[in-house]
Amino acid sequence: MANATFHFPPDFKWGVATASHQVEGNNDNNQWWAWEQEEGRIKQNHKSGVACDWWANAETDFDRAADMGLNALRLSIEWSRVEPEPGVFDAQALDRYREMIKGLRQRGLEPLVTLHHFSNPLWLEQQGAWINDGCIAYFARYVERVANVLGDQVDLWCTINEPNVYTTLSYLQGLFPPGEQNFKAARTVLGNLLKGHAAAYRALHRLQPAAKVGLAHNLRIFDPANPQSLADRLVAAIQDVGFNRATLNAVWKGWWTLPFGFGPAWSLRRTLDWIGLNYYTRDRVAFDAGARSTFFGRSQRTPGAELLDGGYGELYPEGLYRSLTRLARMRLPIYITENGIPDSDDDQRPAALLLHLHQTWRALQMNLPIKGYYHWTLIDNFEWAEGWTLRFGLIELNPETGIRKPRRSANLYTAIVRGNAVTPALIDAYAPRLRDRLLPG
Ligand code: FCB
Repeated sequence: MANATFHFPPDFKWGVATASHQVEGNNDNNQWWAWEQEEGRIKQNHKSGVACDWWANAETDFDRAADMGLNALRLSIEWSRVEPEPGVFDAQALDRYREMIKGLRQRGLEPLVTLHHFSNPLWLEQQGAWINDGCIAYFARYVERVANVLGDQVDLWCTINEPNVYTTLSYLQGLFPPGEQNFKAARTVLGNLLKGHAAAYRALHRLQPAAKVGLAHNLRIFDPANPQSLADRLVAAIQDVGFNRATLNAVWKGWWTLPFGFGPAWSLRRTLDWIGLNYYTRDRVAFDAGARSTFFGRSQRTPGAELLDGGYGELYPEGLYRSLTRLARMRLPIYITENGIPDSDDDQRPAALLLHLHQTWRALQMNLPIKGYYHWTLIDNFEWAEGWTLRFGLIELNPETGIRKPRRSANLYTAIVRGNAVTPALIDAYAPRLRDRLLPG
């Protein structure tokens, strides 16, 4: 073991993941832009502004990704650009996406295209967006337009990013627009997002029979704070069902699960060709009779855990392995569509990257069908309600000047990708404290 090299499969996809509103800049026709203008909604009242300026120039960052040796990149299409008014489609916006995606292919970066990543056109938001059942048909119509223009360039589609996170943050915690805390609304929204996913799945397959369509699911681990406590175990299980299982049951088993419903959802069954895993952290959940809005669960810190910037939670790489083995029961190809940490000074990221890739490697040794890993993210970007306070980039960005500076982690990721392996030399160079953990003996 002392000198083991952790090899990845020869056709493994090495990518980075991004989302339109976080990187494009000047997306002033969606609900996030409007939300940013309201005092106190975003940390330090930060604004997305020109973000990473991808609408004007994504290509120099595509060059950076290609120079790192990557062979894949995940980006999302901004619905509010493609359909700025109901039923009015912007051919120039679609052309720009076509140009970007061709640019990826020319650089050897296989595109994985997300069709909805948190942002809604303003006109849709004004109608209640996903609260409104009509949204499902609107989404399918938009998806068809996009597929008509990009279908010959894109095989891998992700319909909707994290329906569970969108629902929780927008309609239960009120931290994302429209800032509601309304369980009934949340139930409707999650249901409609998943129906929207199924509608998009069908539309894409109709237009492009060979398309590979999935969704990106944020799987968060909920462990009982005290495993001996029945109450803690119960609330942890309830959070797991609500956040994780309800979504997966709907699109895989075709079954609505409490608290988000109960009964058959046959039309949603098996609407996945692959499943995307977005993995970040875990919660230790304790029973708290006062915590009604979180189903009587309160998150606690694991004693001794390494904590991440900005209260983002604990560093828990084993959770990636646990999440992968859990998803493997679906018997679908798995893409790790997001994984990363907020770390502006990059003092934790190199070790975190090595540890998470080691867990990925472990899962591959068990023959789990993991097809690729997309690090969140290439360059610091606008982190939603956290504004620019959380920095997830392999490359640092000064949003005022646009100046980019690769962090050490970028060099590490490059070396891993180019060698298709995590080697003892990389562990020694980037995180020597991990030697005993990863290379015992
Ligand atoms: C995920 C989101 C992504 C980014 C990362 C840090 O939940 O999909 O846009 O915010 O978290």
